[in-house]
Amino acid sequence: MVTLSPNLQAKLSQPLKIDSFEVKSRVLQSPLSGVTDLVFRRLVRRYAPDSMMYTEMVNATGLHYVKQLPKIMEVDPNERPISIQLFDCRPDFLAEAAVKAVAEGADTVDINMGCPVNKITKNGGGSSLLRQPEVAEAIVREVVQAVDVPVTVKTRIGWNDQEITILDFAKRMEDAGAKMITVHGRTRAQGYNGNARWEWIARVKEVLSIPVIGNGDIFSVEAAVKCLEQTGADGVMCSRGTLGYPFLVGEIDHFLKTGELLAPPTPIQRLECAREHLQALWEYKGDRGVRQARKHMTWYAKGFVGAADLRGKLSLVDDVNQGLDLIDRAIENLVQNGYEPELEADSSFALV
Ligand SMILES: Cc1cc2nc3c(=O)[nH]c(=O)nc-3n(C[C@H](O)[C@H](O)[C@H](O)COP(=O)(O)O)c2cc1C
Repeated sequence: MVTLSPNLQAKLSQPLKIDSFEVKSRVLQSPLSGVTDLVFRRLVRRYAPDSMMYTEMVNATGLHYVKQLPKIMEVDPNERPISIQLFDCRPDFLAEAAVKAVAEGADTVDINMGCPVNKITKNGGGSSLLRQPEVAEAIVREVVQAVDVPVTVKTRIGWNDQEITILDFAKRMEDAGAKMITVHGRTRAQGYNGNARWEWIARVKEVLSIPVIGNGDIFSVEAAVKCLEQTGADGVMCSRGTLGYPFLVGEIDHFLKTGELLAPPTPIQRLECAREHLQALWEYKGDRGVRQARKHMTWYAKGFVGAADLRGKLSLVDDVNQGLDLIDRAIENLVQNGYEPELEADSSFALV
């Protein structure tokens, strides 16, 4: 049984204020490279119309050398609120990229200071900025100067267990002009392993005045409420929990606003969503979209008899109609086997 304390409920009923920009939801969809394109965000937004969403991270140096904006930076004019996330270590290129992000429609510009991937950190971007706080500060100052939308930062708690520097780092970001910080409660060395250490998010919240968003291991309404209760954070950001499950942000938002738990989608509803996702990715990106859709479809195909077999087939799809047929046949099978219309209340989907 999930419940919200009255204090928390009162706080969460207020909009999230990112400087002068107000967001009517305390639940955010994180940036996920290779996932949170315009198509995915449209699905998430159907269930969470008020939530802040993020593009995949965009390389500012890359942007400096190209005329045309990359597809990952594309924003639908109707999708708000939206943040474009940038990564790099060069303040000048990031400032230039931020101007382009605002021209594309970004309500806020987010700087990635948490990515653990070698390719990014060896060039001075992502979480390596935790080890170069002066550079991170210079980045925030220069980007703030360049644009008139709020500049925000997403980071981790430190480089490794010996260097948990987030308290000093977060304060520096605030002093440099960041208007919100999202803290993923893991070190860079942890990657995505072990538990997110929400206790550090609580400590960051104690030392900052700008909003602090808790991130890491928000896989359910229950986890979101626990994180908000334990950290005092101003909101939560969902990440891996949304893979194959674009319903999560909306489920949490609905609970925070009403105190009601929504019934989880049935396997059939999830497969219908997979179908729509595949079709839309194909329309948006052609064959490349179909290849990208493989992983999404395997994430959706969970929690019913025959799911493993279906995942194996979906992971090899290279033609849109082949994928649609596989999904249609799986839906028919579920209907024939009496999976309609609803799941038992305690059914849960283990995602990721
Ligand atoms: C596939 C994948 C792609 C990601 N891409 C980004 C990204 O582009 N920018 C970013 O700031 N974080 C990125 N992250 C990190 C997530 O936003 C989030 O901080 C992390 O997964 C922790 O949350 P979780 O434990 O709920 O998954 C990515 C994570 C995954 C698994």
